[in-house]
Amino acid sequence: MCGIIGIVGTAPVADRLVDSLKRLEYRGYDSAGIATLEAGRLNRRRAQGKLRNLETELAQAPLAGQIGIGHTRWATHGRPSVANAHPHATTQVAVVHNGIIENYRELREELLRDGANFESETDTEVVAHLVTRELRSGAGPEAAVAASLPRLKGAFALAFMFDGEDDLLIGARKGSPLAIGYGKGEMYLGSDAIALAPFTDQICYLDDGDWAVLHRGRAEIRNAANDVVVRPIQRSSATAFLVEKGNHRHFMAKEMHEQPEVVSHTLAHYLDLAAETVLLEADLPFDFTGLERISIAACGTAYYAGLIAKYWFEQIARLPVEIDVASEFRYREAPLPKNGLAIVISQSGETADTLASLRYARQEGQKVMAVINVPTSTIARESDAVMPTLAGPEIGVASTKAFTCQLATLAAVAVAAGRARGVLTPERERELVRALIEVPRLMNEALRLGPQIEVLARSFAKSQDVLYLGRATSYPLALEGALKLKEISYIHAEGYAAGELKHGPIALIDEKMPVVVIAPHDQVFDKTMSNMQEVAARGGRIVLLTDARGAAEAGIETEATLVLPEMHPFVTPLVYAIPIQLIAYHTAVQMGTDVDQPRNLAKSVTVE
Ligand code: F6R
Repeated sequence: MCGIIGIVGTAPVADRLVDSLKRLEYRGYDSAGIATLEAGRLNRRRAQGKLRNLETELAQAPLAGQIGIGHTRWATHGRPSVANAHPHATTQVAVVHNGIIENYRELREELLRDGANFESETDTEVVAHLVTRELRSGAGPEAAVAASLPRLKGAFALAFMFDGEDDLLIGARKGSPLAIGYGKGEMYLGSDAIALAPFTDQICYLDDGDWAVLHRGRAEIRNAANDVVVRPIQRSSATAFLVEKGNHRHFMAKEMHEQPEVVSHTLAHYLDLAAETVLLEADLPFDFTGLERISIAACGTAYYAGLIAKYWFEQIARLPVEIDVASEFRYREAPLPKNGLAIVISQSGETADTLASLRYARQEGQKVMAVINVPTSTIARESDAVMPTLAGPEIGVASTKAFTCQLATLAAVAVAAGRARGVLTPERERELVRALIEVPRLMNEALRLGPQIEVLARSFAKSQDVLYLGRATSYPLALEGALKLKEISYIHAEGYAAGELKHGPIALIDEKMPVVVIAPHDQVFDKTMSNMQEVAARGGRIVLLTDARGAAEAGIETEATLVLPEMHPFVTPLVYAIPIQLIAYHTAVQMGTDVDQPRNLAKSVTVE
């Protein structure tokens, strides 16, 4: 999952390509590169690592030209290096690619036999050589691309630029997103509307299988059957301003602190705050009453949001839920109930496995509801009902505010389902909605734990492993806590259902490993305390997250107790998410890692 951009313009493009790549860096930051046509000749600059390295390279060796393509890479085939950085090029064509060419080995062998010289270990380079072979046999650029695309298996968004053709860009899309931007006398290609926002708000999303020929003043789109098609041009609301960190040291810190506000916006979208009821079913293309079960698919943090929602749907709406990580769901061939509902959850709306799960569910006759942060994303466009999370742009790779906004949305949907199914009385609905309305205030209080957690993080930073335990909805939160710590501090961490401890992981307990116990004073508090006793009895280092009642009743010496405000048990995952995130954040800061762009990761995962 990489970011791509192309400009066929009327002014120099190098700086503009780099600016756009900054907006796409969330898609990967292993290497970056641009190519332009200088006096009609293909020329490129590439650098390993973050975009600033490419900027340094360009400062030393600038590139002129009014047409160009650019790329920021998340490595799939071939380690991060200059040779593997895009654009890949021959003397005749340069190409940037997002996705995976699955049959690249067989194509590479075929092209090697025909005398092609490969410079990289990437799957993408076969595309440049395939097109070059067509050009050498006399085809024009369009015909060369048209002949090459059907040879590619897998997922791709591609942008091509040709030597000697200073008024021509070609883009193609299968599986990975690609948009065309319409400017004044200029045309653009980009992975998303955010990349194109500095240039234009007139955006057209290519459909799967489409490819497009762009000149300065016009674009022609063809579908997979090579018929000319018209795709709607939409006005994008993506802002041309780059999101800033404000007074915060990292985007992650800023985004954690935005949670009271964005969760409040999200809740206001789904709740009638005055009547203390949910506002929902009006336009839903399905009816909760007849549902037999819900199937949820998502990845990573979004999956954990779904796991928490499973508890809510089952308890509040008596609606059974099956949940899978999307990479398993898409191949599991699960039989799905007639007229069932599938819910996919995704911040980016572009995650390849989640998108494939959506398509599988639709093919199996399900209505699909998407809980999505990017309303123009592919998943949003392909779903029957879109439940927006109003988190705003999330830049830090570790998901924080998107997660809590997903929870806020799913909580409202669960209450709506409970009401529709006649499980919730009006009083109980009001009780749950009141609890949700309290969440932004409770989150503000939880954020005040920052200084205490900053001190605690000094000892976490010296640990090799950390265990997170919880029961009921605190169990998925334990999984999320472990994921957050792993991904940004690189410390190994595991999340476990507290009751499962004695079935294996208890063997890990020693005086070195912190054990984070998430235990609000709820219906399973006593059970979790028994599990905490088991850890204490073995000399474990306990960090307890609870409320004042829980702290008073715990009766066990802990290394630290983080006391949260008391709250309705329904909403604890939303509020306890905050100390979980703060622990990961401050530990990572102590470790000196790149908090916003941790190694090996990317914000949007458009490959399987
Ligand atoms: C972890 C994280 C990832 C994402 C996952 C799904 O902090 O951000 O685990 O949650 O890659 O991404 P989306 O939500 O964009 O589908």
